[in-house]
Amino acid sequence: MKKVLSGIQTSGRLTLGNYIGAIKNFVELQETHESYYMLADLHAITVQQEPAALRSYIEEVALLYVASGLDPDRSTIFLQSSVPSHAEMGWLLTTIAYLGELERMTQFKDKSFGKESVGAGLFTYPALQAADILLYNPDLVPIGEDQKQHVELTRDIGHRFNTRYGELFTLPEPLIQKTGARIMSLDDASKKMSKSSPTPASYILMLDPPEVIRKKVSRAVTDSGREVKYDPATKPEISNLMTIYTHCSNLTFAEIEAKYEGQGYGNFKKDLAEVIVATLLPIQQRYEELRSSGSIYDILRKGAKEAEAVARPVLLEAKKRMGFINL
Ligand code: TYM
Repeated sequence: MKKVLSGIQTSGRLTLGNYIGAIKNFVELQETHESYYMLADLHAITVQQEPAALRSYIEEVALLYVASGLDPDRSTIFLQSSVPSHAEMGWLLTTIAYLGELERMTQFKDKSFGKESVGAGLFTYPALQAADILLYNPDLVPIGEDQKQHVELTRDIGHRFNTRYGELFTLPEPLIQKTGARIMSLDDASKKMSKSSPTPASYILMLDPPEVIRKKVSRAVTDSGREVKYDPATKPEISNLMTIYTHCSNLTFAEIEAKYEGQGYGNFKKDLAEVIVATLLPIQQRYEELRSSGSIYDILRKGAKEAEAVARPVLLEAKKRMGFINL
């Protein structure tokens, strides 16, 4: 069975972009792959987090993983911070990564742009991500488009380690879906929908109530035309909304185009809001049930044990190869 590993940072509340670009695929992949899904809570603190907020984000991501269909009997679901091998391996790989390659990371450039002082962790972030991945030797890393560069760097770091110290790491492939790998903001189709955006109108949260979803979709920016047509180059706003539509329904782009032909954008937007609500509402209901049951901590404890059992031997082997003495 092939192996997959992926993760989501617990640095904010999850958006529909996280669902379509990541979680929905995680749920499908667990059927056919040995699966490891992490909550990247150590990565979350690369920008300053208020402790109470961090704790609530961690809980929310964990509950949303399970409420969306990740099954703790099929997937290992765990907190990065509860598996000490990640931080240790992160340090080893920080020494293998080059300054130049870290400087080229667009996520670092975006997040540090215009800031007076930037935490060093934001810079070394991709070495920790390489550790997250290489510790499990996955074949595939399912991600949205924006994480591709980090997986490519992971491969470079893994390859460098293998060349210096002997083959140890599998070099994983990024798994990026054809559509939905980059859901754009509702107010600006040139920007990614992001949980760290300061503008709530730009995103739909997985836990937004139906009325809020309806309002945000009705206010989503469109072009001044009338044609519901998938053409990202000339109609980026409508194409983005159609991408969301297709992922929240069983309709293809062609079927959506046919359904709204000659009708302008009104009905299209109304129905889009309803398919989003129909996708998220059952997840929101399971979220509430799970939250009140308190079982999420048992799931995370079980996941931590399973993950450490896989990661620890790989860490010890890497240390041995590098010349450390494992007592
Ligand atoms: P993060 O937390 O920014 O995003 C989590 C996942 O959601 C995808 N995503 C999107 N997909 C489509 N449209 C969007 N608007 C959108 N926004 C986010 C991301 O591409 C990602 O797949 N560094 C990672 C977390 C991480 C990780 C790992 C991932 C840490 N260690 C190891 C994979 C393997 C991050 O910040 O993702």
